[in-house]
Amino acid sequence: MKLLFIGDIVGQPGRNAVKTLLPGLRERHGLDFVIANGENSAGGNGITPRIAGEIFSAGVDVITTGDHLWDQKEVMELLANEKRFLRPLNYPPGTPGQGSAIFEVQRPKSKGQSPISIAVLNAQGRTFMPPLENPFLLALDEVKRLRQQTKILFVDFHAEATSEKIAFARMLDGQVSAVVGTHTHVQTADEQIFPGGTAYLTDAGFTGPHESVLGREIEPVLKRFLTGMPQRFEVAKDRVLLHGAVVEIDDASGKALTILRVSEPV
Ligand SMILES: [Fe+2]
Ligand SMILES: [Fe+2]
Repeated sequence: MKLLFIGDIVGQPGRNAVKTLLPGLRERHGLDFVIANGENSAGGNGITPRIAGEIFSAGVDVITTGDHLWDQKEVMELLANEKRFLRPLNYPPGTPGQGSAIFEVQRPKSKGQSPISIAVLNAQGRTFMPPLENPFLLALDEVKRLRQQTKILFVDFHAEATSEKIAFARMLDGQVSAVVGTHTHVQTADEQIFPGGTAYLTDAGFTGPHESVLGREIEPVLKRFLTGMPQRFEVAKDRVLLHGAVVEIDDASGKALTILRVSEPV
């Protein structure tokens, strides 16, 4: 099967990019499944049920998140009710929502065949990030549990430090189909398949306006660095790109066959 992972959708420009570009990408790559990180989809901060609905309607099957999860209070509704919505696994026990889920994919190319199961897992790093439970220990257990149901597993590891991301993915090599990083909003050029068959990319980048600082207007960010005073960081407008990666996975073994970075202008 072939899936597209879309890096952090930033604000309305990012949502528009998904709406505009996804049909073409689906056609060109023969996509069976689409996952997107939506932590910045509501004006750059968090996500609401209405905006999640917009992203699902654009053709996204599952939304993952990260440290901006809590920025909009309406997210509680998504955490309580939406099966296609994931938050990082390693919040303390008792936190609403889920860090992983299994989905059935009916491949359009193979009509008549039974659907394929794919597990999606979302975890968050701890280096230069808010303190959470240890994602390494929790992911090992969770992957073991999910693998009893399917060998096709996709992981969005939302983390800052490249070392933590690579170590996390190396730990899971051979046990998951792909680990793709998010959070830095800067797409890395290190896509590869590890010896055990796990596809890896340190960061998918972000989907939104790239004439910016990580999706925000340049001037207020500069002012903040120059003065140290808090500023409102509005979402920028220009040079909108969809960033992500297409991963091709062998249905029988769950191993990755190819990984391709995507950077597509609107
Ligand atoms: Fe983000
Ligand atoms: Fe983040």
